[in-house]
Amino acid sequence: MFGKQFRFTKVLECGGVSPLSATACVLKLADDLPTRSMKDFRQRKQRGEKITALTAYDYPTARLLDESGIDIILVGDSLGMVVLGYQDTTGVTMEEMLHHTRAAARGVKRALLVADMPIHTYDTPEQAVETARKFIDVGAQAVKLEGGVSHVEQIEAITKAGIPFMGHIGMLPQSVREEGGYRIKGRNQSEAEALIADARAVEKAGAFSIVLEIVVTEIAKQITKAIDIPTIGIGSGKHCDGQILVTHDLIGLFPWFTPKFVSPEARVADEIRRAATAFIEQTRNS
Ligand code: KIV
Repeated sequence: MFGKQFRFTKVLECGGVSPLSATACVLKLADDLPTRSMKDFRQRKQRGEKITALTAYDYPTARLLDESGIDIILVGDSLGMVVLGYQDTTGVTMEEMLHHTRAAARGVKRALLVADMPIHTYDTPEQAVETARKFIDVGAQAVKLEGGVSHVEQIEAITKAGIPFMGHIGMLPQSVREEGGYRIKGRNQSEAEALIADARAVEKAGAFSIVLEIVVTEIAKQITKAIDIPTIGIGSGKHCDGQILVTHDLIGLFPWFTPKFVSPEARVADEIRRAATAFIEQTRNS
């Protein structure tokens, strides 16, 4: 819907030009792609069409989600926990994120591919743009970082550089150590006001959508009403304009921890154990 299919169609419309101008044409259209796709998201919010998003960190998962018709695929830095075995996302490096973004990008034809900028790769606006460009170079179509009012300069720098941007406010996993755990946000008046200010700041800075992580349902509803870009909730109730989950949680592939707000749709870990046990028994008995 948002990805290479559109790019391909538009490139075909440029037929009959010299090789040099054809390259310029492709570059120009690649530039146009995000603008057009990002506008679609606002329109979908206006039409009340829910937006769907899941994470992927490798080629087969990205391809399966893409073929299933998901709108957005996020190469989240949740990679650190569910794939790399870290305790939280604070140890995830740029090298790891680029490696997995490259792999996921190979599997995506129609969804919008968003990549998470890891901790300390966007401490200044200049660094934020440099990091965002690296993700675009390996196949991401948009980037995400954690923060609202505190990161407006970085977000503006990214969007002014023409790179589509997704916000992320509420519980910020990259701050889990300072916060001392994963806590629901918006529980009191001052937290709720700060969240609404964050959402407005992120929208004004040019984001096309915004993730609300573990925000009180009523406050997520208020934020959703207060801004024109879609809110994509995770553990933030049903009033958001869309929903995102870590795919490992949805399919039961990380059985050692499942967030309270997730009801897994499959038990893939059990299937892996069953198949491995059957193989071990068959081999030993043969
Ligand atoms: O890293 C991630 O997977 C995320 C989602 C939880 C939104 O940021």
